[in-house]
Amino acid sequence: MNHPAMQGLNLNTPGYVKNARLIAWVADMAALCKPDNVYWCDGSDAEYQRLCQQLVDAGTFKKLNEAKRPNSFLACSDPSDVARVEDRTYICSADKENAGPTNNWMAPAEMRSTLQPLFDGCMKGRTMYVVPFSMGPLGSHIAHIGIELTDSAYVAVNQKIMTRMGKAVFDVLGVDGAFVPCVHTVGAPLAEGQKDVSWPCNKTKYIVHYPETREIWSYGSGYGGNALLGKKCFALRIASNMGRDQGWLAEHMLILGVTNPQGKKYHVAAAFPSACGKTNFSMLVPPAGFDGWKVTTIGDDIAWIKPHADGRMYAINPEAGYFGVAPGTNFHTNPNCMASLDKNVIFTNVALTDDGDVWWEGMEKDGGSLPAHLIDWQGKDWTPQIAKETGAKAAHPNARFTVAAINNPALDPEWDNPDGVAIDAFIFGGRRSTTVPLVTEARSWMEGVYMAATMGSETTAAAVGQMGVVRRDPFAMLPFCGYNMSDYFQHWLDMEHKLESLGHTLPKIFCVNWFRKDDAGKFVWPGYGENMRVLKWMIDRLEDQAQGQDTIFGIAPQYAEINWTGLDFSAQQFNTVTSIDKAAWTEELKLHADLFKQLEHHLPKELGETKAAIERRLAA
Ligand code: GTP
Ligand code: SPV
Ligand code: MN
Repeated sequence: MNHPAMQGLNLNTPGYVKNARLIAWVADMAALCKPDNVYWCDGSDAEYQRLCQQLVDAGTFKKLNEAKRPNSFLACSDPSDVARVEDRTYICSADKENAGPTNNWMAPAEMRSTLQPLFDGCMKGRTMYVVPFSMGPLGSHIAHIGIELTDSAYVAVNQKIMTRMGKAVFDVLGVDGAFVPCVHTVGAPLAEGQKDVSWPCNKTKYIVHYPETREIWSYGSGYGGNALLGKKCFALRIASNMGRDQGWLAEHMLILGVTNPQGKKYHVAAAFPSACGKTNFSMLVPPAGFDGWKVTTIGDDIAWIKPHADGRMYAINPEAGYFGVAPGTNFHTNPNCMASLDKNVIFTNVALTDDGDVWWEGMEKDGGSLPAHLIDWQGKDWTPQIAKETGAKAAHPNARFTVAAINNPALDPEWDNPDGVAIDAFIFGGRRSTTVPLVTEARSWMEGVYMAATMGSETTAAAVGQMGVVRRDPFAMLPFCGYNMSDYFQHWLDMEHKLESLGHTLPKIFCVNWFRKDDAGKFVWPGYGENMRVLKWMIDRLEDQAQGQDTIFGIAPQYAEINWTGLDFSAQQFNTVTSIDKAAWTEELKLHADLFKQLEHHLPKELGETKAAIERRLAA
C-alpha cells in the first residue's frame, strides 16, 4: 500500500489524538494528497500569530497599520476566485432523486473517480493542516465535530475565528467519537523549487458533498464557503441531511434577541439570501423613537434549530465568528458591525489606504468624502477619477471580513448557550424591487411555508454568475439544501404537527422585503436600523397588540400601527412599499407555478392548495 510512512512522511500525530478512525483517515489522505508536511492545529493564539506571520511572509497577507487596525490583515484573492461557485457544487447522493432538481448531481462512484486523479499529489510542496473544529459549543448535545484537512494556512486561520477550533475538540472526539471528514485543497501543487503565488487556486473547481457518508471534498478554490468547509458545506448542506434524518432544521438564518423597554425578550430567526441583510439585521441598532429597545446578536448566517419536549423550537448558532459582506457597511448602516471590526480582523478583497488601513464602497458616508488614493483589491491604483472613468470598484462587491463573535458589542449573552434560545418568530425575505410588500404575516404555518418556499430574490455578488436577476430561492436555501427541496418543504410542514402535539403555540412566520424601489430605481424603504419599526410591529402581533389587515398574501400592518417617531415616512410612501399590484401578482403566481413544476417530484400537495387559495383571493 502507498502509505505515507513508506514514503518517509511523518504524520506528526500528537500523542493526545486517540481516535483510530481519524488517524487512519489522515494517513490515507496524506498518502493521496502527498503534502511535504502534516501539521495538526492546536488552536492556540500563538499558533494563530505564527500562521498569520507565515502568510505575511508568503505575500498572502498584508499586515494593516497596527495603530489604526491592531492585529489585522488584508488578503487579496486571485480575481478568478472571489465567491462561491454554485455551478461547481455537487450533492452526490447514491440516488439522483435525493439531490433533487435544484442541485448538481453525479453518482458517488463517478465523482470519486473524477476527484481521485485531481487529489493525487495535489498538496505537493505544501503543508497539510489538520484543523479540528466544533460547530456549536464544544461538547453541546446540539454540536457536531468536523476535521478539515487543508493545504491553505489562510483557511486554518479563518477557521480559528469562524469555529471553535483547536485541540479541545480531540477530547470531545475521544477514541471513537464521530466527525465529518472535510478535505480541502487549493489544487496548486508546487514542483521542486517552484515559487508560490500569493493566492494559489485552480481553474478547475469542485465543491462536493456525499450526504450518505457525510463527507466533504473541495478542490480548486481558497475563498469563503468554497474553502471554509464548516460553514455552507457542513453546517448547511451536510447538516440539512442530518436534520432531516434526526428531526431538526439546519437553516440559512440569523438569530437575534429583541428586548422591549419592559425587559421582555423575544427571539427571532430570519432567512434572507446571500448578501441580503442577515448580518445587518442581526446587529440592528434601534432608531430614534425606540428608547429602551435592544437588539442582540446570537448568529448572523446559520441556525441549527431543534424541537424540544416543551413544544418550542430552540436555535443555536453553530459558528463562532462572522464572514460578512464589507461593502455597504458603515457607521450609519451598521454601527455595531463597524465597532466589531476595530481589531483582530482578517479582511479579504477590500481596498488598502495609503496609511495601511482598509476601505470599501459605502465608507465615504462616514468620512464625508472619497479617499484621494487607494490600492484596490486587485493591487491597482484607485482614485475617485479612475473610478469615475472606468467604474472600477476599490473593494470587490463580495469582499468580506472575518471576525470573532466576541468582537461584537451587541453579542447576546445567550449566544454560546449549548441549549440554544426559544424561537418566537421566523422571518423570510428576498431582495425584490417590485411585487413583494414590506411585511406580511402568514395566517397559518402552512401559509408561512408557502411564502418561504416561493421566495424570490435578485441575485447578488455572493455567488459567481449574473447579478440582479430574480430567481426563486426557497427558504434562502437554494444553494445550501443538501437534499431534495420538496422533501425539505415536507420536513418543514411536518414540524407543525410535531410541535402541535407537544402543545405549545408555534412561532409566527413573517415575509419581508426591504428592497422595493420607486420608478426612479431608488430604494423607498430606508432599511437598516429603520427595520426596527417592522420588527416592533411583529412583536406587537405576537402580543396581540396590532390588528393588521388581511391581504391576498397574509396580514399586513396598517399605516397607523407602525411607530413612525423620528422618521419622516408618509402614508403615500408606505403605500409604495406595501401595495399589492394584482397584475404583478398574477405574473408572480405563474413563477410559483413554474417552481412547483420543477419541484413536482414529492412536492407536498398542500403547497398547490395554498396557491389555489391565493388565486381565489386574487380573483375576488
Ligand atoms: P451572506 O453573508 O452572504 O449570507 O449575507 P447577509 O445576508 O449577511 O448580508 P449582509 O447583512 O452582509 O448585507 C449585504 C448587503 O445588503 C450590504 O451591501 C448591505 O448594505 C445591504 N443591506 C443590508 N440591509 C439592508 C437594508 O435594510 N436595506 C437595504 N437597501 N440594503 C441592505
Ligand atoms: C453566503 O454566500 O451566503 C455567505 C458567504 O454567507 S460564503 O461563506 O462564502 O458562502
Ligand atoms: Mn450566508
